[in-house]
Amino acid sequence: MRILLFTGKGGVGKTTLAAATAARLARAGRKALVISTDPAHSLGDALDAPLSGEPAEVYPGLFAAHLDSRALLEGAWGELRGHLRTVLAGAGVDEMVADELTWLPGVEELLALGEVRRLAQTGPWDVIIVDCGPTAETLRLLGLPEAIGGYLERLYPAHRRAVHGLLAGVAGIGGQQGRSGTAGPRTAIRNWDAAADALSRLADQVGALRAMLADHDTTSIRLVLTPERMVAAESRRTMTALALHGLRVDGVVANRVVPRIAPSVRGPAARWVRARHAEQQEVLSELAALWGTGRHAKANARAVRAVPYTAAEPIGVQALAEVADLLYGQDEPLAGASVPPLLSVRRTKGDGTSVDSEFELALRLPGLDRSAPLELTRIDDDLAVTVAGVRRLVALPSVLSRCEVLGARFGVDELVVVFRPDSRVWMSR
Ligand SMILES: Nc1ncnc2c1ncn2[C@@H]1O[C@H](COP(=O)(O)OP(=O)(O)OP(=O)(O)O)[C@@H](O)[C@H]1O
Ligand SMILES: [Mg+2]
Repeated sequence: MRILLFTGKGGVGKTTLAAATAARLARAGRKALVISTDPAHSLGDALDAPLSGEPAEVYPGLFAAHLDSRALLEGAWGELRGHLRTVLAGAGVDEMVADELTWLPGVEELLALGEVRRLAQTGPWDVIIVDCGPTAETLRLLGLPEAIGGYLERLYPAHRRAVHGLLAGVAGIGGQQGRSGTAGPRTAIRNWDAAADALSRLADQVGALRAMLADHDTTSIRLVLTPERMVAAESRRTMTALALHGLRVDGVVANRVVPRIAPSVRGPAARWVRARHAEQQEVLSELAALWGTGRHAKANARAVRAVPYTAAEPIGVQALAEVADLLYGQDEPLAGASVPPLLSVRRTKGDGTSVDSEFELALRLPGLDRSAPLELTRIDDDLAVTVAGVRRLVALPSVLSRCEVLGARFGVDELVVVFRPDSRVWMSR
């Protein structure tokens, strides 16, 4: 089972290329499901078929669905919010305030991805292709499981105890009924327990979702762009941010590439096409260079693929399959570029056991802008790395959790953090 996510800036061709890839896979005999998590659904338009939240077979072996985040919101999450509201109302919190407090930003996207996971686990698909929303949204969405998972994990047990204690204390557990209009102490605690259980189920689901997205054997991301300077610059930032979240980008698709025309063709239109072509080719070679030099460049010769600007809009399975042929040629669509591990630890001094050893943690961040602001914070056994406003919690390997951070520097496409054993704890484990 493979999961392939298509993301990129608005309007670059994510939906078209996601659908084209699924069409190609289905025609090759695979069971492919293409799902759109973008609230502005155009997948049905691209496939020229009516879609709903449940997968429908639109062509032999090709299934498609667009997720209705509003309906998802009213389902399991609605129930959890209901529990939380009851708890807060029981504690005398105003209804409007309770509404605010139980609002979790980004939860719609989270639910959509949760649904992708459910379909991945229950359906007969060989491959699921996900047409994600525009970059900024998707980024938030892909970083979300980690953010929420970490948040709940850290705060929730303490939170549960605190609220338990608070309810018991305020309501005088074992004593009188609560004030009029508020629930009695035992009801309040029962309500809280129901909410706490629902929260912990959510935390489990978020953790599992995170594991699915960060499993590099199962999930990878294709970044779609049009080869223009501004779009490419944003794509570089996106690649850095995705790597920072531990997600694997295994290829870039440059869409709507204008053709080369013969020198004999003249006139203003020919001049326009020639100028655009030259400009696009320059961006394309810069993008190819992003995938590394030397041994990686050879291995990743197909990391940047180009799709020509077709004369007609590619609509319907036949036209999409033709686009896929232009995109993949004879290649297997699922075979992405190989990328070096995103995280690696190397010893740079000492024998690794003595306190004068030194280690480096390299975080591979393709497309890294070296002038980007960088912030490192140690939180217990995690290192919070913030590059250009995107934050990631990196769980430190055990050897580094007993070290202190000595400094950090930017390498080629990587951030290197230097560690030295912390003499107070080095020998203790
Ligand atoms: N290679 C191509 N040649 C010609 N037209 C194309 C090509 N790729 C996509 N299009 C057309 O460009 C338009 C935008 O494509 P698409 O909807 O796939 O982009 P998107 O990235 O999904 O957009 P959004 O961010 O709005 O979801 C569509 O009308 C589509 O048919
Ligand atoms: Mg789209």
